[in-house]
Amino acid sequence: MTVRELFIQATYLAASVLFILGLRSLTRPDRARRGMNQAALGMLLAIIGTLVNHEIVRYDWIIAGLVLGSVIGYPLGMYVPMTAMPQRIAISHMFGALAATLVGIAEYYTEMKHGTVAGPKMAALGFEVLFGALTVSGSFMAFGKLQEFITGRPVTYRAQNAMNIGLFVLIVLIFVFLIFRPEYPVLFYGMVLLSFAFGFLLVLPIGGADMPVVISLMNSYAGLASAATGFAIGNNVLIIAGALDGASGFILSIVMSRAMNRSFANILFGAFGTAGGTASTKTAAGLSVREISIEDAAIQLAYAQRVIVVPGYGMAVAQAQHQVRELADLVEKNGGEVKYAIHPVAGRMPGHMNVLLAEANIPYDKLKEMEEVNGEFAQTDVALVIGANDVVNPAARTDPSSPIFGMPILNVDHARHIIVLKRSMNTGFAGIENELFYDSKTSMLFGDAKSSLTKLVAEVKNV
Ligand code: TAP
Repeated sequence: MTVRELFIQATYLAASVLFILGLRSLTRPDRARRGMNQAALGMLLAIIGTLVNHEIVRYDWIIAGLVLGSVIGYPLGMYVPMTAMPQRIAISHMFGALAATLVGIAEYYTEMKHGTVAGPKMAALGFEVLFGALTVSGSFMAFGKLQEFITGRPVTYRAQNAMNIGLFVLIVLIFVFLIFRPEYPVLFYGMVLLSFAFGFLLVLPIGGADMPVVISLMNSYAGLASAATGFAIGNNVLIIAGALDGASGFILSIVMSRAMNRSFANILFGAFGTAGGTASTKTAAGLSVREISIEDAAIQLAYAQRVIVVPGYGMAVAQAQHQVRELADLVEKNGGEVKYAIHPVAGRMPGHMNVLLAEANIPYDKLKEMEEVNGEFAQTDVALVIGANDVVNPAARTDPSSPIFGMPILNVDHARHIIVLKRSMNTGFAGIENELFYDSKTSMLFGDAKSSLTKLVAEVKNV
């Protein structure tokens, strides 16, 4: 082994260790920042190792790519708001998968120019371009639905699932054929095009609100495509990073589906999650809500001993996390105790609430996971629900006809008083009524969460 080769393998090994440490650190909010830094350092080492490879004959295109990538990447990282993070991640997956697909096509083209492609290599290349191409178009669709330049509603038509499955079977058949007979470029490029079309068709019937699960599934496909690229071009760090990416994306998709009490099949084929709300199964006929004034809410909070804040998607929309912190500080100054109840699928992406609350410097030890905090609501004076809806909907426990039946929820209805901050009686992601809002213990404080909290803070100071 030459010194150069030794250096490359050493950087790849260090990069792989850093990726694993990074993932491990990301499992706890207080270490998440460190995890990102470890992963970024790992990526830097992997790039350095790759750049000294003797197979590189010209650096001009690489430098151009580095400059272009930095020019695009920096604003993506710095200026995209947290609420737009799911679509930002989707577009990153699209670029990653596009790179894997292009490498696969280039490898096939080069190998064919020199004769043929050996079976094992063809298997890796086929896998790479198949998953790569479908991830490119699938991620683009997910991006479009979340950014709302494509309708967020599920687009369905007759025999859609059968046609999609048929198309996938056809792609797999071509793939298997190519492993034995790689000398048909038309089939290879045809497979790329069909996989590309399949990605579009796969995501078309899925509602915009289910996109985060689709995105993490696409993350896993992009990872698999990268691992296959690693096998195809004999690059160890790509194999390891791709496998980590593929496995973690897959686990995340399962965790998300479980927390939403949905099966993968239901998400991929169920056309659920219409952005804007499906027709609710239960209506609020005959029920009335109790509104509360800022002054009365402030009095309740000022004298409360135990408060649990329940943040949801609305807090993210309103970007109200700093006002939440200010209010909590005041309650604590008055001798009260404040905890935060975090539902695993509150918001629209995993860890959404943790990230926002951390941004407002709320100590991590006050963020309580659902299992940990659920027993405490009964001893809570005020549960302050900020822009959360589905994750506190008792129908998940009581109404077998509800689409969220069986989803574990936060036991907010067990608290002595409940104050709900939202703008209207509109439904949340699942598009269903929430009986919690009509509960005799519940008071509604209507308005944008940020402006309501700002007024509440001012009022609590006066109590
Ligand atoms: P949702 O059930 O979506 O409810 C959010 C509520 O926030 C809405 O009812 C809305 O009511 C209110 N809101 C919106 N903007 C607001 C603002 N500016 N100020 C105050 N309130 C505002 O949210 P959730 O309880 O967090 O539940 C999350 C849902 O998303 C679950 O159904 C979950 O399954 C789904 N989901 C989550 C994920 C992940 S990984 N987190 C991924 C996919 C799907 P108004 O319009 O009346 O204000």
